[in-house]
This record gives sequence, structure tokens and C-alpha cells, in this order.
Amino acid sequence: MKLIVVEDKNTIGKVVGQIFINIVQQNPTAVFGLATGSSPEPVYQYLIADYQKNNTDWKKVITFNLDEYVGLEPTHPQSYRYFMNKKLFNQLNINKDNTHVPIGTGDYVAAAKQYDTLIAKAGGIDVQLLGVGTNGHVGFNEPPADFTSLTGVVNLVESTIQANARFFASSAEVPQQAVSMGIKSILNAKKIILMANGSNKAQAIKQLVEGEINNLWPCTALQMHHDVTVVIDRTAAGLLQSRGINIS
Ligand code: GLP
Repeated sequence: MKLIVVEDKNTIGKVVGQIFINIVQQNPTAVFGLATGSSPEPVYQYLIADYQKNNTDWKKVITFNLDEYVGLEPTHPQSYRYFMNKKLFNQLNINKDNTHVPIGTGDYVAAAKQYDTLIAKAGGIDVQLLGVGTNGHVGFNEPPADFTSLTGVVNLVESTIQANARFFASSAEVPQQAVSMGIKSILNAKKIILMANGSNKAQAIKQLVEGEINNLWPCTALQMHHDVTVVIDRTAAGLLQSRGINIS
């Protein structure tokens, strides 16, 4: 596991964004696994700024998002499809047909079962971007996580509902279920980049980097993968013994 500690979330955006740009330039048909939440936003802003300046060509890039809330239509402002269109896809020349976000309405159970097959047909994910929940969840794989899980319907725990309530009018409006890529789906990616900022992520990062592999901290499953880069700010690194590579 490679650990990079930087000053703040904008620097995380720059470091991670540049990794993605380098890959698109080398491989215009790259397959990316993407994430939502506040952590990836600086990355997406960096990609958009690069596109506006350098015209990096996203036309043939294929993307698969990690998760979606059950019950939210793609047009719902808090759905992850809406988030991705607004924060990234609408601002690049990516072909929307090449962007995949699990569906949370209609026949979402059957669609979830097909999601890993769809990823495999695209050649597998070259780079999977991840945030992490304060309880160590990745995607929406809550503790205790099944490390053999593929994409499916999952229940959100109360702490996640509360953490995500800030995006809704009240916690009662936060869906209690989601469709999420499983831990196995995530580990199938060829390369994984996990980002975190803020002291509320310090405990999850401590477990990820220095803890035992333990399904009560779903992120520790990443220790079983051979190519993981963790990019965090100093506050998220606050509980670590390891110093990592410092970039300012
Ligand atoms: C949500 C998402 C996760 C994300 C996590 C952390 O629960 N399903 O994919 O990593 O929140 O979000 P944030 O980056 O906003 O802290």
C-alpha cells in the first residue's frame, strides 16, 4: 500500500486528478471506477479544469460508479447519477452511453446482478477511485462487510444515514438502502486509489493502513489488493504511526 499525505483536499484533488489524466493520455479507452461524496469533488474539478485547458480526450473512456441510493430516480438531485452528470460528465466530452451508475429504481435488483458482468465485458476496471465512510465503509459496504460480495442491494447503517443527512432536507429523507458494488467487485479493479480528508476519517484511515484485516472495518479488505494508493490530508493522517510520502 502506498501512502501519500498532502496538505489539504485540493491537493488531494490535484495529485489524484493528475494520475487519472496521465492514464487517459496513455490509454484513451481506459475503464474507471468512480465515486461520489465530497472527497472526489476536488478530483473532478481538477479533471474539468484540465479538460478546459488541455482538451484531454474523454470520448472513449468508460466509467462505472460504485453505488446509488434505492428509491431515487436518476433525475433526483441527491441521486448519484445526478451528482455525476452535474459534477463531471456534463463538463467533459465523455460519451454518456459509456458512463454507468447502478440504478436505484425499476428493476434495480436484476440490474445489480448484471453489473459485475458489465464491468467484466468492458475489460475490468483499470483504476477504482474510493472515498471512505467514517465507519470504514467503502462504496456502501457497511460493517460487518462480506469480503466476497459482488454488486447488490445493501442496508445503510444509522451512522451513514446521519452522515449523509446533510445532503437531504432531513435524515428521514435519506434512503435506507442502496445498490453498491461489493468488496469483491472493488478488489477486482487493477488499481485502487482511496482518498480521505478531515479528522473524522482518521480512525478509518488508521484501520486501513495499520489495522488487522477485519470485516468490522470494511476498508481493511484493501490490504488484500496488490496496488492500492491512499491519498489523504494531514488531519486524516492524524492517528497514523506511518509517515508515508509527503507532498506539499
Ligand atoms: C457515502 C458514499 C461513499 C463515500 C462516503 C464518504 O456513503 N457511498 O462512497 O466514500 O460517503 O463520503 P465523503 O467523501 O463525503 O466523506
